Amino acid sequence: MKAAYINQTGPPEMIQFADLPEPKPTPTQCLIKVAAVDVNPIDIYIRSGMVQAKLSFPWILGRDFAGTIMEVGPGVKRFKVGDRVWGSNQGADGRSGTFAEFIAVDERWVYYTPQSVTDEEAVAISLVGITSHLGLVRSARVKSGEILFVNGGSGGVGSSVVQMAKILGARVITTAGSDAKVEICRNLGADLAINYKSQDVDPAIKQFAPEGVNIWWETLREPNFERTVPLLSLRGRMVVMAGRDARPQLPIGPFYVKDCALLGFAMFNASPREQRSAAEDINLWMSEGKLKPRIDRVLPLAQAAEAHRLQEESTVRKTGILAGKLVLKP
Ligand SMILES: NC(=O)c1ccc[n+]([C@@H]2O[C@H](COP(=O)([O-])OP(=O)(O)OC[C@H]3O[C@@H](n4cnc5c(N)ncnc54)[C@H](OP(=O)(O)O)[C@@H]3O)[C@@H](O)[C@H]2O)c1
Repeated sequence: MKAAYINQTGPPEMIQFADLPEPKPTPTQCLIKVAAVDVNPIDIYIRSGMVQAKLSFPWILGRDFAGTIMEVGPGVKRFKVGDRVWGSNQGADGRSGTFAEFIAVDERWVYYTPQSVTDEEAVAISLVGITSHLGLVRSARVKSGEILFVNGGSGGVGSSVVQMAKILGARVITTAGSDAKVEICRNLGADLAINYKSQDVDPAIKQFAPEGVNIWWETLREPNFERTVPLLSLRGRMVVMAGRDARPQLPIGPFYVKDCALLGFAMFNASPREQRSAAEDINLWMSEGKLKPRIDRVLPLAQAAEAHRLQEESTVRKTGILAGKLVLKP
C-alpha cells in the first residue's frame, strides 16, 4: 500500500510517499480502507523534531482517519465490514499513524460516520472536535448563557470551539487575522468577531463582557496572563492547551481573588471512553447540521510533504495561510 512516512525527523522534505506492507488487524482491530486524513499542528511538531516522541521508523504520519471497514478481527463487537467510520488519537503510544491506504485500528478508537457526513468532513472535525468537547464539557463545564472567548475562530480548534460553545448555549467572542476570516467566524455563529490585526481587542471584549469573560480558551502557544487574567469574570476559567515551551508569568493576586481556575489538558491523555463520549455528541451535532467542519482545502495524500509545509507555515510561522483543516485523500 502507499503511505506517507519518515525515516528520520526533519523538514517536510523528509516525508516519503512510497510502498509499505499492509497492516494485519489483531483480534480487536478493524482494517480500514482510508478515504481521508488531515493535518494537525502536533504532526508538524513530531515530524520536525520540535517535540521529542518515541518513534519507530518507518514512522507513518497522521493522527486522524475516515474510511470504510474492510475486515474485522474476531473480537470486534461493534463494527462490521462495510461500515463507514472515523477516529483520532492514532500515531502515538505504539499505535500506527493514519497517512496510508489501509490502517488497522483498535475498535476502542473507532466511531460510526453519520450517513449525511462525508469522509472529508468526518476527518476534519475528528481531533479538533474531540479536543473542543473535552475542553468545554469535561474541563470548563460551560453553562448556558456564559461568555466564552477563543482566539483564532477560523482555525482548526477555534472554529470547532466557536460552534460547540454556541451549541452548548454560550455567547462567543473570537478573533481572526483578516476581515475575510472575521466573516468566517460570524458565519460559524460567533456573537462578536474581532480582527486582531486592525482592531483593539481588549476594549471590544470589555464592551461585550463588562463583568468579564467566564471562559477564556487560549489556543496561542504564548499565553499572556498579565493581559488575560484582568479580562476574566468572577469564577472565570482559563483553558490552556498549546505551547509546550511557554513559561508565562501568572499574576496570582488578581487571579485568586476572583476565584479563577486554570485548566490544562491534552486530548491524547483522554481515555477511549472519554473520547467516545465526545465523538457521540459530535456525530449527533453533525447529523443535525449544527456542527460543520471547517475545511480549508483537500489535497492528494501524495502531497503530504506540501501539506506539512503549508500547516507549518500557517501555525508555526503564523502566516495564517490556512483557515481550517487541511484534508488529504489517498
Ligand atoms: N492540547 C490539545 O489537546 C491540543 C489539541 C489540538 C491542538 N492543540 C494545539 O492548539 C494550537 C492551535 O491548533 P489549531 O489546530 O487550531 O491550529 P491552527 O488551525 O493553525 O489555528 C491557529 C489559530 O491561531 C490564530 N492566531 C495566530 N496568531 C494569533 C494572534 N496573535 N492573536 C489571535 N489569534 C492568533 C490564527 O488566526 P488567523 O489565522 O486568523 O491569524 C489561527 O486561527 C496548536 O499549538 C496545537 O498544537 C492542542
